[in-house]
Amino acid sequence: MKLPTTALALRDIDLLFRPFTHRKLQLPTRLVMAPVLRLFADAGMPTVEMLLYYSRRAAQELGLIISEPVAVNATASLDEGMAHFYGGAALRAWKGICRAVHRTGCKMAPLLFHAGMLHPGEEAAGPSGIDPGSLQQRGETMNKENIRNIALDFARAAASARLLGFDGVVVDGAGLVEQFLHPETNRRHDEYGGDMVSRARFACELVHAVRKAVGSRFPILFRLPEHCADSPQELEQLVSALCAAGVDIFACVGEMVHFPAFAGSPLNMACWVRMLSQRPVIAEGGVGLRADSLQQLVRSLVAREFDLVAVGRALLADAEWGRKVRLAREDSISPFHPGAVLHLF
Ligand SMILES: Cc1cc2nc3c(=O)[nH]c(=O)nc-3n(C[C@H](O)[C@H](O)[C@H](O)COP(=O)(O)O)c2cc1C
Repeated sequence: MKLPTTALALRDIDLLFRPFTHRKLQLPTRLVMAPVLRLFADAGMPTVEMLLYYSRRAAQELGLIISEPVAVNATASLDEGMAHFYGGAALRAWKGICRAVHRTGCKMAPLLFHAGMLHPGEEAAGPSGIDPGSLQQRGETMNKENIRNIALDFARAAASARLLGFDGVVVDGAGLVEQFLHPETNRRHDEYGGDMVSRARFACELVHAVRKAVGSRFPILFRLPEHCADSPQELEQLVSALCAAGVDIFACVGEMVHFPAFAGSPLNMACWVRMLSQRPVIAEGGVGLRADSLQQLVRSLVAREFDLVAVGRALLADAEWGRKVRLAREDSISPFHPGAVLHLF
């Protein structure tokens, strides 16, 4: 008997709401809240409004929330509205957010971030002191002691996340890590500069330090920036090194989940990373923004191109996005509009 199209569509989108089971991380659904920089912290302190913002979304069929990027130390921040993930008061506030999210059944992981040369102060430092925007020399070149200390800050933040009850940590490949990965901002001639393996050394040292701090059973996710590799060969070098350092799951940043990652192949980035790393992958980009995006998503989930799906803008605009999709109430979703980023609701 031929099933009506709507029944098929409903059954297929249910794939998004199936539990995700990994030996280190179990999620009630495969829907992830993508990290979105909000800058609503009060001089680095997470606020009650932030707690409400996260728990409101958590209760709507999300499996995992990846927090907005959080600064691992005082020079890691982009702006004074960026939340800290160090110091007793900020960590206590994060514990409250984590508990509120857990009460809904959703899991949460902080996105550990360092701005490097994007830090606005004069003390900004990077692999070669190069500003990523102007590509001009602006700040200090990090020495090996600076590098060791930053790895320790990531490790301390990750250990705090575990103690506070978070379900994993995400090492952010943006900011300082990306400045090491890119040859335009990394002009070093030591073991941290040169080919991809050398440029990835810093990221791997962070992951290694985090792994040492959290033990073998705590999940480490790594957020791969868009355009992190020029070719599948470079991508393989990068993800292999990160896997060896201790990454369990990758999250791929992308504007459009279905865009091919490299010329000459239709595969998207998440697909490449899943294939090359043999690790579960979170894909994202454009989900819920266009009328046909859910059908495309279902096709990819059925084809097992990736394991989890992160949603950014659609969830910003409508906190109930997950529940509405699950209940096939798409027509009641509030669409994303640029004004949605101006308020925390
Ligand atoms: C306002 C805004 C701020 C964002 N901030 C961050 C960020 O700080 N770090 C990050 O990794 N991604 C950030 N993103 C990217 C999202 O996580 C996501 O990758 C992107 O929006 C594509 O997914 P979407 O189409 O579902 O929104 C941001 C996106 C938006 C719209």
